[in-house]
Amino acid sequence: TKTYLTGIQTSGMPHLGNYIGAIRPALEAAREHDSMYFLADYHALNSVRDPAKLRHDVRSVAATWLACGLDPERTVLYRQSSVPEVFELATVLGAVTAKGLMNRAHAYKAARDRNAEAGVDDLDAGVNMGLFNYPVLMAADILVMEADIVPVGRDQRQHIEYTADIAGSFNHLYGAAYAFPVPEGEFPEGESSLLPGTDGRKMSKSYDNHIPLFLPENKLKKLVRRIPTDSTPVEDPKDPDTSAVFQLLEHFADADRTAAVRKRLEAGGMGWGELKNELFDVLNGLFGPMRERYDALMEPDSELDAVLEDGAERARARAKATMAKVRAATGIA
Ligand code: TYM
Repeated sequence: TKTYLTGIQTSGMPHLGNYIGAIRPALEAAREHDSMYFLADYHALNSVRDPAKLRHDVRSVAATWLACGLDPERTVLYRQSSVPEVFELATVLGAVTAKGLMNRAHAYKAARDRNAEAGVDDLDAGVNMGLFNYPVLMAADILVMEADIVPVGRDQRQHIEYTADIAGSFNHLYGAAYAFPVPEGEFPEGESSLLPGTDGRKMSKSYDNHIPLFLPENKLKKLVRRIPTDSTPVEDPKDPDTSAVFQLLEHFADADRTAAVRKRLEAGGMGWGELKNELFDVLNGLFGPMRERYDALMEPDSELDAVLEDGAERARARAKATMAKVRAATGIA
């Protein structure tokens, strides 16, 4: 049987992009497959420097998974930091990973490009080892659980390729004694499957164009209203495919509703304001009930902490078994 694994960084409340790219597909897969979903708190440490915020965000991401329907009996839900074997494996993997591979990682290259553009002499200024080493730690997350399939958004494609590469290097050296299963990414359908944000670019916390999953109704309404649109008059025909509002709607409304809205936009007579009301209605209908559950889980005495404790135990047992094989294969044990 195949094991599904994915993680979300604990750097704020998850947004609609996280839902489309990871949460929805992962929960679908969890109905039929072994699944292990985790809170990437050590990854978040690269950017979140406020301990109270990090603690809060760990609970927030865990509550999100549960509110969206994760069944903790079926799926192992755990914190990355509860499994120290991850870091042990990251050290082993570092020994078989070419530095040149890391030099070509998108996030690292983007940081250097930003420095170049700003005219900063040292292109590595502001880059910490956590960022540079990120792909190795992520490979350890995946390989320590011997995961087969990793459901993620398309922005993670290179990370999955690197993981497969790194597993290949290890297997090449030590495969006679122990070989990792080489994992594959599973990406949402469609070429434009990265969800756009309120400005049409990829929805991302770092672009400040994201819509958090469980905003109070009035805040959600405000955010949706603020999505920029052009000044085409209500009665004129509109091109749905160039509208960020419509693209968002498409991902969350059922096919019939999306088709009906498309028809009305193309015919003219439907204004942007009405389209935004439609989007708000769809989002609020889907996430409203989950928001209640989320709020209850965020209370200090909710079942959340017990779920994470149980998840930590189950995740750790599996990681320990892998590490025993890795230690034996490499000569560390
Ligand atoms: P993170 O925390 O940035 O995002 C979590 C998941 O959400 C997806 N995603 C999107 N999908 C579609 N459209 C968008 N606009 C959008 N924005 C984000 C991401 O692709 C991701 O699947 N490196 C990972 C976390 C991680 C991980 C792992 C994932 C650490 N270790 C091991 C899988 C396996 C990250 O930063 O995701």
